Amino acid sequence: MSLSKKYILWFAQEHVEFRQAEFNSLMKLFNIQHIDYINDNKPFWVIEFPDDAVALQYASRSIALRAILKLWSHGKNYETFHKNLNHFIEQNQAHLSSLFTKETSFKITVETYNKHLSQKEKIERIESLDYLPLKGCVDLQLPNVEWWYAEFWGLDPTNVPDKPEDIFFGQWLANGQRHLIKEISLKNRKFIGNTSMDAQLSLLMANQALVKPGDLVFDPFVGTGSLLVSAAKFGGYVLGADIDFMMLHARARPSRITQRVRDKDESVRANLEQYNCSDRYLDVVIADFSNTLWRNDLKFDSIITDPPYGIREATEKIETKHNKTEIKNSANLHYPSTSRYALHHLYQDLLMFASMHLKLGGRLVFWLPFCSLFRNDYTDDIIPQHVSLTLISNSEQILMGRTSRRLLTYEKHVESNHFVYDKVILHPTLTLDFRERYFESDDVSRSEKRMHRAKQREKGRLEALKRGKVITDGRSFKCTMNRQRFKEIEENN
Ligand SMILES: C[S@@+](CC[C@H](N)C(=O)[O-])C[C@H]1O[C@@H](n2cnc3c(N)ncnc32)[C@H](O)[C@@H]1O
Repeated sequence: MSLSKKYILWFAQEHVEFRQAEFNSLMKLFNIQHIDYINDNKPFWVIEFPDDAVALQYASRSIALRAILKLWSHGKNYETFHKNLNHFIEQNQAHLSSLFTKETSFKITVETYNKHLSQKEKIERIESLDYLPLKGCVDLQLPNVEWWYAEFWGLDPTNVPDKPEDIFFGQWLANGQRHLIKEISLKNRKFIGNTSMDAQLSLLMANQALVKPGDLVFDPFVGTGSLLVSAAKFGGYVLGADIDFMMLHARARPSRITQRVRDKDESVRANLEQYNCSDRYLDVVIADFSNTLWRNDLKFDSIITDPPYGIREATEKIETKHNKTEIKNSANLHYPSTSRYALHHLYQDLLMFASMHLKLGGRLVFWLPFCSLFRNDYTDDIIPQHVSLTLISNSEQILMGRTSRRLLTYEKHVESNHFVYDKVILHPTLTLDFRERYFESDDVSRSEKRMHRAKQREKGRLEALKRGKVITDGRSFKCTMNRQRFKEIEENN
């Protein structure tokens, strides 16, 4: 009988909304066949892959994944768990014998979710596995085999069950790529700006874009190049453009509180060098996206970008007050001025650009902002559409205060060689500028705003607790106090 091809995917409980989309993208990237049994918000999925090599491919790119294990046993209670594990060992004796020799050192890691176990309790769990025919020595540093014993105690920290809901045992196969989050963290990056994209999200975006070694990747709103860094980390050749000369030449004011002037050598190139990716850096150019400078036949494997929302950085484009014949006259110097680049025009241009400049099957990945305060302006039909692009995924990230943003991934399925504006469908809400939508809520009273913020804080607190975070500052106390105060105001009104 062959070994089971079932695996446990143990995820980090962060950016849970992006997990499924990343998983689907990686399945497509590596053309992996799979059967999954669980795909909810729990930190683990049980999944069936053809073999270990395929499982390792997935782990070699996943940012959401903490570790992947070969499943040996799963039970909903201790009794079934131990019964299943015993049965597995009996059934697979021949295959497993090499793991249980005198020469094979081992380690058993005890993992729990939503429950803290003392060292004594952990040892008890390990001792409950005394029927494993282990003969080798324990090696906590570099074992030949590592097993994970994992217990899942529900998602709600305010209502921890008496017994674990799931118990697993599996052979550790590989970790995911979460070490990259630290490796390219903004904290230590040479060149950053106010809107530099967080390392984890930029890596997730590169996965959504299916970046693979040798791909040509473009960011038309490149800023400090965070999205180029993650794409280059996965082997893409990267190219960027931005309208802001001062930003691209690192002459804008430094964003770090500790820095008074920018270093001379700050640049997007320096960022790529910092992460040993300079061989994949093509260039960045000063260019206004509304006046595309690229040849029509230039094709990218993916376009990954974070367009301006007009809140922290301006949405602008170059305009001219002269007619074009005047500009061409060298005696008549032309100083371009900028005007506001309406967001719906920007999205229209972006979809048009992608439909023309992506290779067939290529992906466009970008963020779309929404107001989530008093008027939730999101509905499914608000997502921009283009006849040549299929929407692959739409994942929300709740931001602080009054906004959220959605990471949209599109795939090009039809060749398109002309800019035809009626191929883009934009919902009327998007034609209202995000800045206006954002500030529209300013006509509500201050107490309403405070009340809303208190509710948001409470929601955030509950979500943090759900993720297993222990809130140690005075915030929870303040939340309780505010809840009481606002309840009183509401009652008095
Ligand atoms: C949200 S920021 C991008 C940040 C970038 N992802 C990073 O990690 O630094 C948006 C960028 O778009 C640029 N931008 C605004 N209008 C533009 C236009 N018309 N054409 C090209 N770039 C533009 C801004 O200068 C800004 O750097």
